[in-house]
Amino acid sequence: MSELELQQLEAAFDQKIVNDQKIEPKDWMPEKYRQTHIRQISQHAHSEVVGMLPEGNWITRAPSLRRKVALLAKVQDEAGHGLYLYSACETLGISRDELYDQLHSGEAKYSSIFNYPTVTWADMGAIGWLVDGAAIINQVALTNTSYGPYARAMVRICKEESFHQRQGFEIMMTLAEGTPEQKAMAQDALNRWWWPSLMMFGPTDAESVHTAQSMKWKLKRKTNDELRQQFIDQTVPQAHLIGLTIPDPDLKWNEAKGGYDFGPINWDEFWQVVKGYGPCNKSRMDARKGAWDEGKWVRDAAVAYAEKQEANLEMANA
Ligand SMILES: [Fe+2]
Ligand SMILES: [Fe+2]
Repeated sequence: MSELELQQLEAAFDQKIVNDQKIEPKDWMPEKYRQTHIRQISQHAHSEVVGMLPEGNWITRAPSLRRKVALLAKVQDEAGHGLYLYSACETLGISRDELYDQLHSGEAKYSSIFNYPTVTWADMGAIGWLVDGAAIINQVALTNTSYGPYARAMVRICKEESFHQRQGFEIMMTLAEGTPEQKAMAQDALNRWWWPSLMMFGPTDAESVHTAQSMKWKLKRKTNDELRQQFIDQTVPQAHLIGLTIPDPDLKWNEAKGGYDFGPINWDEFWQVVKGYGPCNKSRMDARKGAWDEGKWVRDAAVAYAEKQEANLEMANA
């Protein structure tokens, strides 16, 4: 391809982005756009799948059949989200096996929030309410992202996320209205999950290396700091409604900006967890790799079965 042709393709691509037209798998796209999307969509897919671990841990211990059914359905939804997203990522020309390899080798990242432990039943409430709540804010912003398959996956995923958020909030509300011990358990879960949830929006805009390019490509439609502020403003009144206290002494309504001011986020902790030194990084990866290794016979059997079916078909057609 000549330099001129490349420039024309780039100009047409840029124009599509400006016009808010979707980029589809077979359209020409700059290599950097493709790579950035593989990174972000696969990271998102891995987060859905690894995110099943902290909650899966509680399915058998949920306090009633109703809670078990809801949690089981929620965890199953997350598996479905992972599958949509791996499929969307494959349209960019990378195979599912390569994506799994990147996760298992530690080359690919997943959301750091899942490297925190789930120590009480109230954590199921806090995760649904805060973690899925933060995920919705990130993901609603992605429903009109520029890459077609990713945007369409987000529309469907967001509908399910709002159920996740409500089931979490309902657990918290029930505990907060319960015995003093139950209320204390809910408060303790909020204390532990609040700050990691705020970190889910990523580094501040000033520190974020990908934000400018991602905004230009309309991969991101709002910055990390805008989304974080939106989450705080939405969540604080919900905590007040059920009589829980946000663990931030600096939290204060700011009339002029029409939002809450909040205290400093511990970014050292954030980077420690990102770099692999969070409380559960190792056990999460061990669980994933273990599931992959133990599932080998299932994958082998599925391939053998497909081959046998194909052979039978050939014989029948011969
Ligand atoms: Fe999800
Ligand atoms: Fe979810």
